[in-house]
Amino acid sequence: MSESLQEIVTYYKNQGAPGDQAALLSCLREAQQACGGMLDSAAQAQIAALLGVKPSYLQAVAKRISDLKLSGAAHTLTVCTGVNCTRKGSEIRRYLEQELGAQPDKTFLGGKWMYRIAGCQRACRTAPNVRIDGELITGITLDALKKRLQAP
Ligand code: FES
Repeated sequence: MSESLQEIVTYYKNQGAPGDQAALLSCLREAQQACGGMLDSAAQAQIAALLGVKPSYLQAVAKRISDLKLSGAAHTLTVCTGVNCTRKGSEIRRYLEQELGAQPDKTFLGGKWMYRIAGCQRACRTAPNVRIDGELITGITLDALKKRLQAP
Protein backbone atom coordinates (compact mmCIF):
# COMPACT_ATOMS: atom_id res chain seq x y z
CA MET A 1 0.00 0.00 0.00
CA SER A 2 1.14 3.50 -0.69
CA GLU A 3 2.48 4.87 2.58
CA SER A 4 1.15 8.33 1.81
CA LEU A 5 -2.33 6.95 1.15
CA GLN A 6 -2.27 5.12 4.46
CA GLU A 7 -1.10 8.25 6.25
CA ILE A 8 -3.84 10.35 4.67
CA VAL A 9 -6.62 7.92 5.54
CA THR A 10 -5.32 7.39 9.08
CA TYR A 11 -5.21 11.14 9.63
CA TYR A 12 -8.80 11.67 8.49
CA LYS A 13 -10.02 8.59 10.34
CA ASN A 14 -8.71 10.25 13.47
CA GLN A 15 -10.67 13.35 12.42
CA GLY A 16 -13.92 11.36 12.34
CA ALA A 17 -14.09 9.83 8.85
CA PRO A 18 -16.11 8.03 7.60
CA GLY A 19 -18.89 9.09 10.01
CA ASP A 20 -17.99 12.77 9.67
CA GLN A 21 -18.84 13.60 6.05
CA ALA A 22 -16.58 16.66 5.92
CA ALA A 23 -13.61 14.58 7.10
CA LEU A 24 -14.50 11.82 4.64
CA LEU A 25 -14.66 14.22 1.70
CA SER A 26 -11.37 15.86 2.68
CA CYS A 27 -9.86 12.39 2.96
CA LEU A 28 -11.05 11.37 -0.50
CA ARG A 29 -9.92 14.64 -2.10
CA GLU A 30 -6.45 14.41 -0.57
CA ALA A 31 -6.14 10.73 -1.47
CA GLN A 32 -7.21 11.53 -5.02
CA GLN A 33 -4.51 14.18 -5.25
CA ALA A 34 -1.90 11.74 -3.92
CA CYS A 35 -2.97 9.18 -6.52
CA GLY A 36 -2.46 11.53 -9.45
CA GLY A 37 -5.95 13.00 -9.69
CA MET A 38 -8.08 9.88 -9.81
CA LEU A 39 -8.88 7.01 -7.45
CA ASP A 40 -8.60 3.65 -9.17
CA SER A 41 -10.09 0.39 -7.93
CA ALA A 42 -6.99 -0.51 -5.91
CA ALA A 43 -6.97 2.87 -4.14
CA GLN A 44 -10.72 2.69 -3.50
CA ALA A 45 -10.34 -0.77 -1.97
CA GLN A 46 -7.43 0.34 0.21
CA ILE A 47 -9.24 3.42 1.47
CA ALA A 48 -12.44 1.48 2.13
CA ALA A 49 -10.55 -1.20 4.08
CA LEU A 50 -8.78 1.40 6.22
CA LEU A 51 -12.02 3.22 6.93
CA GLY A 52 -13.96 0.01 7.58
CA VAL A 53 -16.56 0.62 4.87
CA LYS A 54 -17.37 -1.11 1.58
CA PRO A 55 -15.90 0.30 -1.66
CA SER A 56 -19.49 0.70 -2.91
CA TYR A 57 -20.09 3.17 -0.07
CA LEU A 58 -17.19 5.34 -1.25
CA GLN A 59 -18.45 5.10 -4.82
CA ALA A 60 -21.91 6.25 -3.74
CA VAL A 61 -20.39 9.22 -1.89
CA ALA A 62 -18.12 10.13 -4.80
CA LYS A 63 -20.99 10.06 -7.30
CA ARG A 64 -22.56 13.01 -5.49
CA ILE A 65 -19.35 15.08 -5.49
CA SER A 66 -18.34 16.40 -8.89
CA ASP A 67 -14.63 16.90 -8.17
CA LEU A 68 -14.12 13.29 -7.03
CA LYS A 69 -13.12 11.06 -9.91
CA LEU A 70 -13.21 7.29 -9.65
CA SER A 71 -11.68 5.06 -12.26
CA GLY A 72 -12.70 1.55 -13.19
CA ALA A 73 -9.05 0.71 -13.87
CA ALA A 74 -7.36 -1.59 -11.39
CA HIS A 75 -4.22 0.56 -11.18
CA THR A 76 -2.97 4.01 -12.03
CA LEU A 77 0.41 4.80 -13.54
CA THR A 78 1.41 8.44 -13.21
CA VAL A 79 4.47 9.54 -15.14
CA CYS A 80 6.42 12.59 -14.02
CA THR A 81 6.86 15.08 -16.84
CA GLY A 82 9.23 17.41 -15.00
CA VAL A 83 12.49 18.37 -16.72
CA ASN A 84 14.75 15.67 -15.23
CA CYS A 85 12.25 12.85 -15.60
CA THR A 86 11.45 13.85 -19.16
CA ARG A 87 15.13 13.88 -20.05
CA LYS A 88 16.04 10.61 -18.32
CA GLY A 89 12.76 8.82 -18.90
CA SER A 90 12.08 9.54 -22.53
CA GLU A 91 12.12 5.85 -23.45
CA ILE A 92 9.43 5.18 -20.84
CA ARG A 93 7.02 7.70 -22.27
CA ARG A 94 7.84 6.57 -25.81
CA TYR A 95 7.07 2.98 -24.85
CA LEU A 96 3.83 3.87 -23.11
CA GLU A 97 2.47 6.27 -25.68
CA GLN A 98 3.82 4.88 -28.94
CA GLU A 99 4.06 1.14 -28.32
CA LEU A 100 1.13 0.68 -25.93
CA GLY A 101 -0.96 3.59 -27.24
CA ALA A 102 -1.49 5.04 -23.76
CA GLN A 103 -3.13 8.47 -23.70
CA PRO A 104 -3.25 10.72 -20.64
CA ASP A 105 -6.40 10.32 -18.50
CA LYS A 106 -7.40 7.18 -20.37
CA THR A 107 -7.05 3.51 -19.61
CA PHE A 108 -4.68 1.22 -21.47
CA LEU A 109 -3.72 -2.47 -21.51
CA GLY A 110 -7.33 -3.51 -21.84
CA GLY A 111 -8.63 -1.06 -19.27
CA LYS A 112 -6.45 -2.45 -16.49
CA TRP A 113 -4.31 0.66 -16.13
CA MET A 114 -5.14 4.35 -16.00
CA TYR A 115 -2.44 6.55 -17.52
CA ARG A 116 -1.80 9.93 -15.94
CA ILE A 117 0.92 12.52 -16.33
CA ALA A 118 1.96 14.97 -13.64
CA GLY A 119 4.48 17.72 -13.03
CA CYS A 120 7.64 17.43 -10.96
CA GLN A 121 7.24 15.04 -8.01
CA ARG A 122 10.10 16.70 -6.10
CA ALA A 123 12.42 13.73 -6.39
CA CYS A 124 14.36 14.97 -9.41
CA ARG A 125 17.73 13.54 -8.34
CA THR A 126 16.37 10.01 -8.71
CA ALA A 127 14.75 10.53 -12.12
CA PRO A 128 13.04 8.98 -13.92
CA ASN A 129 10.20 8.69 -11.43
CA VAL A 130 6.66 7.40 -11.72
CA ARG A 131 3.85 6.76 -9.30
CA ILE A 132 2.03 3.45 -9.24
CA ASP A 133 -1.22 3.64 -7.32
CA GLY A 134 0.10 6.79 -5.68
CA GLU A 135 3.39 5.23 -4.53
CA LEU A 136 6.50 7.03 -5.79
CA ILE A 137 8.84 4.68 -7.64
CA THR A 138 12.21 6.34 -8.15
CA GLY A 139 14.85 5.61 -10.76
CA ILE A 140 12.60 3.21 -12.62
CA THR A 141 13.92 1.43 -15.70
CA LEU A 142 11.87 0.50 -18.71
CA ASP A 143 12.29 -3.22 -17.92
CA ALA A 144 11.15 -2.68 -14.32
CA LEU A 145 8.13 -0.75 -15.51
CA LYS A 146 7.21 -3.49 -17.98
CA LYS A 147 7.29 -6.02 -15.12
CA ARG A 148 5.07 -3.79 -12.95
CA LEU A 149 2.59 -3.40 -15.79
CA GLN A 150 2.26 -7.17 -16.08
CA ALA A 151 1.57 -7.69 -12.37
CA PRO A 152 -2.03 -8.54 -11.43
S1 FES B 1 11.40 16.08 -12.65
FE1 FES B 1 10.48 14.26 -11.97
S2 FES B 1 10.62 14.43 -9.85
FE2 FES B 1 11.31 16.37 -10.52
